[in-house]
Amino acid sequence: MRRLLAIMLMVFVAPPVWAAGAGGDMMDARVDVSDQSSLQRGAKLFANNCMGCHSAKYVRWNALPDALGVSMEMIESNLVYGSYTPGDTINAAMRSEDAADWFGAAPPDLSLTARARGEDWVYTYLNSFYQDSDASIGWNNTVLPNSSMPHVLWRMQGVPEARYETHNGEPQVAELVVPTDQQGTLNEAEYQRVTRDITNFMAFMAEPVRAKRQEMGVWVIGFLIIFTGLAYLLKREYWRDVH
Ligand code: HEC
Repeated sequence: MRRLLAIMLMVFVAPPVWAAGAGGDMMDARVDVSDQSSLQRGAKLFANNCMGCHSAKYVRWNALPDALGVSMEMIESNLVYGSYTPGDTINAAMRSEDAADWFGAAPPDLSLTARARGEDWVYTYLNSFYQDSDASIGWNNTVLPNSSMPHVLWRMQGVPEARYETHNGEPQVAELVVPTDQQGTLNEAEYQRVTRDITNFMAFMAEPVRAKRQEMGVWVIGFLIIFTGLAYLLKREYWRDVH
Protein backbone atom coordinates (compact mmCIF):
# COMPACT_ATOMS: atom_id res chain seq x y z
CA MET A 1 0.00 0.00 0.00
CA ARG A 2 2.86 2.37 0.85
CA ARG A 3 4.50 1.78 -2.48
CA LEU A 4 1.19 2.39 -4.24
CA LEU A 5 0.81 5.67 -2.38
CA ALA A 6 4.35 6.65 -3.36
CA ILE A 7 3.60 5.95 -7.02
CA MET A 8 0.38 7.95 -6.87
CA LEU A 9 2.21 10.84 -5.21
CA MET A 10 4.77 10.78 -8.03
CA VAL A 11 2.01 10.96 -10.61
CA PHE A 12 0.54 14.02 -8.92
CA VAL A 13 3.70 15.85 -7.98
CA ALA A 14 6.04 15.15 -10.87
CA PRO A 15 4.49 16.92 -13.90
CA PRO A 16 4.90 20.50 -12.64
CA VAL A 17 8.50 19.75 -11.68
CA TRP A 18 9.29 18.45 -15.18
CA ALA A 19 7.60 21.44 -16.76
CA ALA A 20 9.68 23.84 -14.69
CA GLY A 21 12.84 22.32 -16.13
CA ALA A 22 12.36 24.07 -19.51
CA GLY A 23 14.87 26.79 -20.34
CA GLY A 24 17.37 28.76 -18.24
CA ASP A 25 16.25 32.38 -17.96
CA MET A 26 13.00 32.09 -19.88
CA MET A 27 9.96 33.98 -18.63
CA ASP A 28 7.05 31.90 -17.38
CA ALA A 29 4.22 31.99 -19.96
CA ARG A 30 1.63 30.43 -17.59
CA VAL A 31 -0.75 29.78 -20.50
CA ASP A 32 -4.25 28.43 -19.87
CA VAL A 33 -5.93 27.00 -22.97
CA SER A 34 -9.23 26.64 -21.11
CA ASP A 35 -9.39 30.45 -20.70
CA GLN A 36 -11.65 31.28 -23.67
CA SER A 37 -11.53 35.06 -23.33
CA SER A 38 -7.73 34.93 -23.43
CA LEU A 39 -7.93 32.70 -26.54
CA GLN A 40 -10.36 35.16 -28.17
CA ARG A 41 -8.03 38.11 -27.53
CA GLY A 42 -5.05 36.01 -28.65
CA ALA A 43 -6.75 34.98 -31.91
CA LYS A 44 -7.63 38.58 -32.73
CA LEU A 45 -4.11 39.82 -31.95
CA PHE A 46 -2.69 36.97 -34.04
CA ALA A 47 -4.95 37.77 -37.01
CA ASN A 48 -4.18 41.49 -36.86
CA ASN A 49 -0.45 41.37 -36.21
CA CYS A 50 1.01 38.05 -37.32
CA MET A 51 -0.96 36.58 -40.22
CA GLY A 52 0.37 39.20 -42.61
CA CYS A 53 3.59 37.18 -42.62
CA HIS A 54 2.99 33.87 -40.82
CA SER A 55 0.68 30.99 -41.72
CA ALA A 56 -0.75 28.33 -39.41
CA LYS A 57 -1.42 25.76 -42.07
CA TYR A 58 -2.27 22.85 -39.75
CA VAL A 59 -5.14 24.77 -38.17
CA ARG A 60 -8.57 25.00 -39.81
CA TRP A 61 -10.80 28.00 -39.31
CA ASN A 62 -13.70 25.73 -38.36
CA ALA A 63 -11.70 24.40 -35.36
CA LEU A 64 -11.88 27.85 -33.76
CA PRO A 65 -15.56 28.40 -32.78
CA ASP A 66 -15.56 25.47 -30.36
CA ALA A 67 -12.29 26.35 -28.64
CA LEU A 68 -12.93 30.08 -28.48
CA GLY A 69 -16.58 29.75 -27.52
CA VAL A 70 -17.82 32.01 -30.33
CA SER A 71 -19.86 31.48 -33.51
CA MET A 72 -18.39 30.90 -36.96
CA GLU A 73 -19.92 34.25 -38.00
CA MET A 74 -17.92 36.00 -35.26
CA ILE A 75 -14.74 34.35 -36.55
CA GLU A 76 -15.55 35.33 -40.13
CA SER A 77 -16.27 38.96 -39.38
CA ASN A 78 -13.39 39.46 -36.94
CA LEU A 79 -10.50 37.29 -38.00
CA VAL A 80 -10.72 36.30 -41.65
CA TYR A 81 -9.43 38.62 -44.34
CA GLY A 82 -10.27 37.94 -47.98
CA SER A 83 -12.19 35.01 -49.39
CA TYR A 84 -12.14 31.56 -47.79
CA THR A 85 -14.28 28.54 -46.97
CA PRO A 86 -14.62 27.38 -43.33
CA GLY A 87 -12.62 24.19 -43.94
CA ASP A 88 -9.60 26.22 -45.13
CA THR A 89 -6.44 26.34 -43.06
CA ILE A 90 -4.97 29.61 -41.79
CA ASN A 91 -2.76 31.09 -44.51
CA ALA A 92 -0.38 34.03 -44.50
CA ALA A 93 -1.33 37.10 -46.50
CA MET A 94 2.21 37.29 -47.82
CA ARG A 95 3.76 34.77 -50.21
CA SER A 96 6.70 33.13 -48.49
CA GLU A 97 9.08 33.69 -51.45
CA ASP A 98 8.42 37.44 -51.25
CA ALA A 99 8.85 37.38 -47.50
CA ALA A 100 12.19 35.61 -47.81
CA ASP A 101 13.35 38.32 -50.23
CA TRP A 102 12.21 41.14 -47.97
CA PHE A 103 13.25 39.83 -44.57
CA GLY A 104 16.18 37.56 -45.42
CA ALA A 105 14.37 34.57 -43.88
CA ALA A 106 10.91 33.22 -44.69
CA PRO A 107 8.55 33.66 -41.70
CA PRO A 108 8.05 30.07 -40.49
CA ASP A 109 4.61 28.47 -40.16
CA LEU A 110 3.49 28.97 -36.55
CA SER A 111 1.04 26.04 -36.15
CA LEU A 112 3.40 23.95 -34.04
CA THR A 113 5.93 26.52 -32.78
CA ALA A 114 4.53 26.64 -29.24
CA ARG A 115 5.31 22.94 -28.94
CA ALA A 116 8.55 22.84 -30.95
CA ARG A 117 10.11 25.83 -29.15
CA GLY A 118 8.04 25.72 -25.97
CA GLU A 119 5.48 28.24 -24.71
CA ASP A 120 7.94 29.97 -22.41
CA TRP A 121 10.30 30.43 -25.36
CA VAL A 122 7.58 32.04 -27.53
CA TYR A 123 6.43 34.29 -24.68
CA THR A 124 10.00 35.35 -23.85
CA TYR A 125 10.76 35.91 -27.55
CA LEU A 126 7.82 38.34 -27.86
CA ASN A 127 9.18 40.19 -24.78
CA SER A 128 12.80 40.33 -25.96
CA PHE A 129 12.86 42.66 -28.95
CA TYR A 130 15.06 45.76 -28.76
CA GLN A 131 16.40 48.49 -31.00
CA ASP A 132 20.05 47.59 -31.56
CA SER A 133 22.50 50.46 -30.98
CA ASP A 134 24.10 49.32 -34.26
CA ALA A 135 21.73 50.97 -36.74
CA SER A 136 22.64 48.50 -39.51
CA ILE A 137 21.06 45.71 -37.40
CA GLY A 138 17.88 47.60 -36.52
CA TRP A 139 15.53 45.39 -34.49
CA ASN A 140 17.25 42.65 -32.57
CA ASN A 141 16.12 39.99 -30.12
CA THR A 142 17.95 38.49 -27.14
CA VAL A 143 16.24 35.10 -27.51
CA LEU A 144 16.85 34.79 -31.27
CA PRO A 145 19.89 37.04 -31.89
CA ASN A 146 19.80 38.85 -35.25
CA SER A 147 16.25 37.63 -35.82
CA SER A 148 14.99 38.92 -39.15
CA MET A 149 11.52 39.48 -37.70
CA PRO A 150 10.83 43.16 -36.94
CA HIS A 151 9.27 44.08 -33.58
CA VAL A 152 5.72 44.17 -34.96
CA LEU A 153 4.17 45.08 -31.57
CA TRP A 154 6.42 48.11 -30.94
CA ARG A 155 3.53 50.56 -30.99
CA MET A 156 2.10 48.75 -27.97
CA GLN A 157 5.34 48.08 -26.07
CA GLY A 158 7.38 51.12 -27.11
CA VAL A 159 10.98 50.89 -28.29
CA PRO A 160 13.16 48.91 -25.83
CA GLU A 161 16.91 49.56 -25.70
CA ALA A 162 19.56 47.21 -24.37
CA ARG A 163 21.70 47.91 -21.30
CA TYR A 164 25.00 46.04 -21.51
CA GLU A 165 27.32 44.38 -19.00
CA THR A 166 30.81 43.09 -19.77
CA HIS A 167 31.44 39.36 -19.37
CA ASN A 168 34.97 38.10 -20.15
CA GLY A 169 35.67 41.30 -22.07
CA GLU A 170 32.55 40.83 -24.26
CA PRO A 171 29.58 43.19 -23.91
CA GLN A 172 26.37 41.24 -23.22
CA VAL A 173 22.80 42.42 -22.96
CA ALA A 174 21.95 42.64 -19.24
CA GLU A 175 18.44 44.07 -19.47
CA LEU A 176 15.99 45.73 -21.86
CA VAL A 177 14.53 49.09 -20.93
CA VAL A 178 11.91 51.24 -22.65
CA PRO A 179 13.17 54.87 -22.26
CA THR A 180 10.53 57.31 -21.00
CA ASP A 181 10.40 59.17 -24.33
CA GLN A 182 9.93 55.89 -26.25
CA GLN A 183 6.91 54.48 -24.39
CA GLY A 184 4.20 52.63 -26.29
CA THR A 185 0.43 52.67 -25.80
CA LEU A 186 0.59 49.92 -23.12
CA ASN A 187 2.37 49.68 -19.79
CA GLU A 188 4.57 46.68 -19.00
CA ALA A 189 1.82 44.56 -17.37
CA GLU A 190 -0.60 45.23 -20.24
CA TYR A 191 2.02 44.33 -22.84
CA GLN A 192 2.76 41.10 -20.98
CA ARG A 193 -0.94 40.25 -21.04
CA VAL A 194 -1.07 40.85 -24.79
CA THR A 195 1.92 38.59 -25.41
CA ARG A 196 0.55 35.97 -23.00
CA ASP A 197 -2.78 35.93 -24.93
CA ILE A 198 -0.92 35.46 -28.23
CA THR A 199 1.20 32.67 -26.71
CA ASN A 200 -1.97 31.08 -25.32
CA PHE A 201 -3.56 31.08 -28.79
CA MET A 202 -0.37 29.57 -30.24
CA ALA A 203 -0.44 26.88 -27.52
CA PHE A 204 -4.03 26.07 -28.51
CA MET A 205 -3.04 25.88 -32.20
CA ALA A 206 -0.15 23.53 -31.41
CA GLU A 207 -2.48 21.14 -29.57
CA PRO A 208 -6.16 21.89 -30.20
CA VAL A 209 -7.37 19.07 -27.94
CA ARG A 210 -5.28 20.13 -24.94
CA ALA A 211 -8.11 21.74 -22.97
CA LYS A 212 -10.22 18.57 -23.42
CA ARG A 213 -7.26 16.33 -22.53
CA GLN A 214 -6.63 18.22 -19.29
CA GLU A 215 -10.30 18.12 -18.36
CA MET A 216 -10.42 14.39 -19.04
CA GLY A 217 -7.24 13.84 -17.00
CA VAL A 218 -9.00 15.05 -13.87
CA TRP A 219 -11.75 12.45 -14.35
CA VAL A 220 -9.26 9.68 -15.06
CA ILE A 221 -7.24 10.45 -11.90
CA GLY A 222 -10.47 10.67 -9.89
CA PHE A 223 -11.55 7.28 -11.20
CA LEU A 224 -8.13 5.79 -10.35
CA ILE A 225 -8.31 7.08 -6.78
CA ILE A 226 -11.79 5.63 -6.21
CA PHE A 227 -10.82 2.39 -7.92
CA THR A 228 -7.67 2.08 -5.77
CA GLY A 229 -9.76 2.56 -2.64
CA LEU A 230 -12.23 -0.14 -3.71
CA ALA A 231 -9.44 -2.56 -4.66
CA TYR A 232 -7.83 -2.03 -1.26
CA LEU A 233 -11.09 -2.74 0.58
CA LEU A 234 -11.63 -5.84 -1.51
CA LYS A 235 -8.10 -7.06 -0.73
CA ARG A 236 -8.71 -6.59 2.99
CA GLU A 237 -11.96 -8.51 2.68
CA TYR A 238 -10.25 -11.48 0.94
CA TRP A 239 -7.29 -11.62 3.31
CA ARG A 240 -9.40 -11.48 6.44
CA ASP A 241 -10.24 -15.18 6.06
CA VAL A 242 -6.63 -16.15 5.28
CA HIS A 243 -5.13 -14.50 8.40
C1 HEC B 1 6.74 41.52 -41.12
C2 HEC B 1 6.63 40.07 -41.12
C3 HEC B 1 6.36 39.40 -39.78
C4 HEC B 1 5.31 39.63 -38.93
C5 HEC B 1 4.15 40.60 -39.11
C6 HEC B 1 5.48 38.71 -37.83
N1 HEC B 1 6.61 37.95 -38.00
FE1 HEC B 1 7.25 36.46 -36.79
N2 HEC B 1 8.85 36.14 -38.01
C7 HEC B 1 9.10 36.82 -39.19
C8 HEC B 1 10.35 36.32 -39.77
C9 HEC B 1 10.99 36.81 -41.07
C10 HEC B 1 10.82 35.32 -38.89
C11 HEC B 1 12.10 34.47 -39.04
C12 HEC B 1 13.13 35.06 -38.10
C13 HEC B 1 14.49 34.40 -38.25
O1 HEC B 1 14.56 33.17 -38.28
O2 HEC B 1 15.48 35.17 -38.27
C14 HEC B 1 9.86 35.22 -37.80
C15 HEC B 1 9.97 34.36 -36.72
C16 HEC B 1 9.01 34.21 -35.71
C17 HEC B 1 9.11 33.26 -34.62
C18 HEC B 1 10.25 32.30 -34.37
C19 HEC B 1 9.89 30.97 -34.94
C20 HEC B 1 11.01 30.00 -34.80
O3 HEC B 1 10.72 28.86 -34.41
O4 HEC B 1 12.18 30.38 -35.07
C21 HEC B 1 7.99 33.42 -33.85
C22 HEC B 1 7.62 32.65 -32.58
C23 HEC B 1 7.21 34.47 -34.46
N3 HEC B 1 7.87 34.91 -35.58
C24 HEC B 1 6.01 34.91 -33.95
C25 HEC B 1 5.30 35.99 -34.48
C26 HEC B 1 4.09 36.51 -33.88
C27 HEC B 1 3.43 35.93 -32.64
C28 HEC B 1 3.71 37.55 -34.65
C29 HEC B 1 2.54 38.47 -34.40
C30 HEC B 1 2.55 39.15 -33.14
C31 HEC B 1 4.67 37.68 -35.74
N4 HEC B 1 5.64 36.71 -35.61
C32 HEC B 1 4.61 38.63 -36.76
C33 HEC B 1 8.32 37.81 -39.75
C34 HEC B 1 7.18 38.33 -39.19
